[in-house]
Formats: sequence, C-alpha cells, structure tokens
Amino acid sequence: MFLVLLSFILLHFHLKQLELSGAQKTLQGRREVLEQACLSHTKKRQVLSPEDLKHLIVDDKHGLIYCYVPKVACTNWKRVLMVLTGNGRYTDPLAIPANEAHVAGNLHTLSEFSVTEINQRLRSYLKFIFVREPFERLVSAYRNKFTRSYNTAFHKRYGTKIIRRHRPNPEAEAMEKGNNVSFREFVQYLVDPRTQREEPFNEHWERVHALCHPCLIHYDVVGKYETLEPDAQAVLRLAAVEGKVQFPTSSKSTRTDGNMAARFFQYIGPFYQKKLFNLYRMDFLLFNYSTPEYLRTR
Ligand SMILES: *[C@@H]1O[C@H](CO)[C@@H](O)[C@H](O)[C@H]1NC(C)=O
Ligand SMILES: *[C@@H]1O[C@H](CO)[C@@H](O)[C@H](O)[C@H]1NC(C)=O
Repeated sequence: MFLVLLSFILLHFHLKQLELSGAQKTLQGRREVLEQACLSHTKKRQVLSPEDLKHLIVDDKHGLIYCYVPKVACTNWKRVLMVLTGNGRYTDPLAIPANEAHVAGNLHTLSEFSVTEINQRLRSYLKFIFVREPFERLVSAYRNKFTRSYNTAFHKRYGTKIIRRHRPNPEAEAMEKGNNVSFREFVQYLVDPRTQREEPFNEHWERVHALCHPCLIHYDVVGKYETLEPDAQAVLRLAAVEGKVQFPTSSKSTRTDGNMAARFFQYIGPFYQKKLFNLYRMDFLLFNYSTPEYLRTR
C-alpha cells in the first residue's frame, strides 16, 4: 500500500516536471519566433525614451514588469499587480472594481523612473506581456467601444469623427453623438492615412509592437490570450508569487470563441481587408499568428 502510494507520488511528480518543461519549451519557442521576426522585419535599431514606457507596469517588490495591452485580459493583470504591490490592502483581485484597476497612479509605470533606474529594472526584472490574435483583439475593441450604448465618451471622441469622415450623408444626430459606427466605418478610419498623421491610435486599437516595443525590450514571457490560464500560471510561478495571488479565471460569457473576427470581416471588401492586414502585419509576424483563412486580399 505504502509503495503503491509512493510510486503514485513519484509518477505524479514526474508528470509535473514534464508538464513544466513542456510549458517552458512553448515559451522558449515564442521568444525565438519573436527574436527572429524582429531581426527580419525591423530596420535600424531605435532608442526608447521614458515616454515610450508608459504601458510597462512595475512591481518593485517582486521584480516584475508587465506591459499591458488593452483587450488582452489587462484588467485582470492590473488587479493582480494591485494585489501584489498593495501591501496587504487587497487580497482578492476580483474584489477590485474594474474602473479602479485602470486609475492612473494606482500602479507605477516604468516611464516614471530615471534612465538609470529604468535600465536597472529592465536588466533584472521578469518582463512579461500578453498578446492576442490581432483581428480578434481589434473586433473586441470595436464591439466594446462602439456597440455599447454606455460608451458615450468613445462615441463622442472617435465616433463623431469617424461618421463625419466615412459616412456619406450622415444625419445630424449621428454627427453630434457618434453612435452606431459600423465596423466598416471603423476600418476605413483605421486605414485612412490622416488618422495616424493627426494623433497616435488609441491604445485599444494600437498595435502591440507600438505599445510594448517587443523588439527592443526582451520579454521573458510572451503569454497568449488563447491560452490565458496556463500562461498566467506560468508567469506567477516564474515570479514565485503563486502563493500570494491567483489569476482570476474569467467567466465563459465574457470570452469570445476566437472566431468573432471572421463574422465581422464578411462585411469588409478585399481592398480594405488588405490595407488592414498591412497595418497589423507586424503583430501577426512577431507573435506567430497565421494569416486568417477568411481573409480576402486579392
Ligand atoms: C507558430 O505557429 C505555427 C502555426 O500555427 C505552429 O505550428 C508553431 O508551433 C508555432 N511556433 C511557436 C514557437 O509557437
Ligand atoms: C443608434 O443608436 C441609438 C443609441 O445608441 C439607438 O437608439 C438607435 O436605434 C440606433 N440607430 C440605428 C439606426 O441603429
């Protein structure tokens, strides 16, 4: 009996080890793809300024840097980091209201430090990022910001501009309120050269490579939304904080089936599909997402 139990424990331990090395291999593979894609597709080496590091959240207590990407579980990661950096103020990430997780100043970003302090942290901290299939992320941003009637700030700020520029004969009310922007109008806005000339993209649709500079900052872990739970656990394990906080498991209702983009792209013609793909191409390449099968670029 004792021996059976012992061998079970040993087998279990062995399996855990195998699992771990499998996970490590996956993460190593992603880093290699990223490095190779950076070598092949980026031109001259740029230099980052502190301004470029606004999306990198710092946890000095546990030596962590997390670059947040909206629409990729960033609310839950911010909550986790608030638990870790909160000196006992919070214990349960989900008890922190979402809007509180996004208040600037609740968490520190790398841009707040001096160049010396930044370099120290970049050298020695565990750096991680979470990414998602670029068009799934884009459609998620569109649905969240333009199809929910409560998001009046986005309608006013972006919707009115999109309707004025990209809707023929808009009604006065639409021009004033910016409601009911269609996905096609949103896509036209994104690929219009004027848009980025006037101001950078909003962070909800800005490309990950522009938010997090993955060719200049060597992330230790590239997590994926498609494998959120195991990847989040891998990060907490590597950071040695498994006992301090659990990554919230999200309810199925808020997660999409990973096939949302195909439905929205039906209404976009090949011309705009191609332009949009060029716009987000680097994020596809850097993070090893294959060209969607539904895409019509000819
Ligand atoms: C990259 O993507 C391809 C195709 O989906 C996949 O077979 C391969 O395992 C991926 N590589 C890594 C390192 O994740
Ligand atoms: C536009 O949006 C408003 C408020 O969000 C809604 O009441 C109205 O039905 C919508 N109109 C159309 C044509 O979809």
